[in-house]
Amino acid sequence: MIEELNNYNFLTENDNLLLKTYNLGFEKKQILIIVVNREKSLNAVNIDILKSLVNILKHVKNDSNILSIILTGAGTKAFIAGADIKSMSTYDPEDAYKYSVLGQDLVKLINSFHKPIIAAVNGYALGGGCEIASACHLRYASENSIFGQPEVKLGIIAGWGGTVNLKRLIGVGNATKLLISGDTINCDEALKMGLVNMVFPLENFLSLVIKEVKRFCQNSPNAIKNTLFSINSSNDDESYRTESDLFRDSFKHEDSRIGISAFLRKEKPKFK
Ligand code: COA
Repeated sequence: MIEELNNYNFLTENDNLLLKTYNLGFEKKQILIIVVNREKSLNAVNIDILKSLVNILKHVKNDSNILSIILTGAGTKAFIAGADIKSMSTYDPEDAYKYSVLGQDLVKLINSFHKPIIAAVNGYALGGGCEIASACHLRYASENSIFGQPEVKLGIIAGWGGTVNLKRLIGVGNATKLLISGDTINCDEALKMGLVNMVFPLENFLSLVIKEVKRFCQNSPNAIKNTLFSINSSNDDESYRTESDLFRDSFKHEDSRIGISAFLRKEKPKFK
């Protein structure tokens, strides 16, 4: 399917992102498809990818031909398996704070965007992946999708708006359960909880998502813009600040070293 799409006319400096367009067939209107392309690391998102995603979205803001954006992951195993744990293993608390603020800049930009951004979740959406999906305006999932916020198993907390956006989406109870248990849930549970809007078969997943997104590209872009603005106009600045402060604090605690190094050794962490 990806091969049938056109390249987007914007030079991203980042090899880990593919930018494709789908022509809607009227005027020069298009859907932009952003693919996180780091399949070997299950599309884990590092600082460069975060920065590039922010740059791309800022560019697309002014491209009147793009009516909607679909964000997905390369391959069939993962949407985004989270923030890059290998990079995080080298972070001191101040690096961790900056990483959190950068991730929050992205999720805030996504959430406040005036064109619909749809997460096409095609596999694992864990940690930062679940947070990025939760910031999108809609989430369409393939049947093999798995959602979760396993940060507590790494001895840290969610740092890209998970504590802010999940409770908006699925309520405080469900959000708390996901965030403190670190449990993963499948797409049926996610659908029941309201975490995803629709579930599609994995085969032809992207085509099915595009077909669905095409439907609302027929509606008034101005009315959609104002609807998105009205839905997402809440001021969560203080909650975001608290989250990034506490994300930094979790890197001051020895649990972060125990949890992150256990993941890298493919072992179960033993917190004291
Ligand atoms: N950051 C960095 N690398 C990651 C990653 C992440 N978030 N998630 C997966 N990877 C890497 C693995 O380290 C592995 O690399 P390797 O081949 O060099 O060892 C590769 O991707 C494949 O992952 P692997 O764990 O071997 O696949 P699996 O099928 O056994 O397990 C998951 C899949 C998603 C359950 C498992 O990778 C996982 O738990 N990932 C971390 C999820 C997480 O905690 N995210 C929140 C981060 S804040």
